[in-house]
Amino acid sequence: MILRSVTAEDLPLFFEHQRDAAALRMAAFPSRERDAFLTHWRTQVLRPENVTRTIVVGGLVAGYVSSWEQDGKRLVAYWMGREHWGKGVATRALSEFLVHEPVRPLHAWVAVHNVGSMRVLEKCGFRAVAQEPPQHADGVAEVLMMLGPR
Ligand SMILES: CC(C)(COP(=O)(O)OP(=O)(O)OC[C@H]1O[C@@H](n2cnc3c(N)ncnc32)[C@H](O)[C@@H]1OP(=O)(O)O)[C@@H](O)C(=O)NCCC(=O)NCCS
Repeated sequence: MILRSVTAEDLPLFFEHQRDAAALRMAAFPSRERDAFLTHWRTQVLRPENVTRTIVVGGLVAGYVSSWEQDGKRLVAYWMGREHWGKGVATRALSEFLVHEPVRPLHAWVAVHNVGSMRVLEKCGFRAVAQEPPQHADGVAEVLMMLGPR
């Protein structure tokens, strides 16, 4: 597994990963249409002040991990194609990413039912610090996980 800079060729694959129904249920996240997804990546995710890396496994693009500033917090998120799940890739990718992203505290919002993502975060040293009631129409509560000093 390696992390590398994101290229334009990665975006169509990230788009396919993000519209996978099982992934969307897990993350409790609404899918974006192709144009909206590409615009969001080009104008928001790939801003120079963010840290975003493509996860490559055996030469294949497996997903991404990214951090950004929002509401006064540095947040991290990741998303992988389903064929790469369950092999420890997200845990290895996030551990490696934490070397490139030195900001602490670092936070992550996780849907309460996304036990896989919570486990990834816990294995990388994050701890649950708060739970928010549902903010969106989907009715899913979210847990705030944090790494580093308050
Ligand atoms: C969540 C996600 C990143 C997990 O990736 P992964 O590479 O399969 O995770 P790992 O293999 O590193 O697993 C880490 C731990 O989580 C557990 N785990 C992973 N997926 C799980 C699941 N669906 N249910 C229960 N446990 C799960 C693993 O068993 C492992 O725990 P262990 O070491 O105690 O056995 C991946 O499923 C994904 O991209 N999902 C869709 C997008 C998403 O939810 N992103 C996160 C939003 S906060």
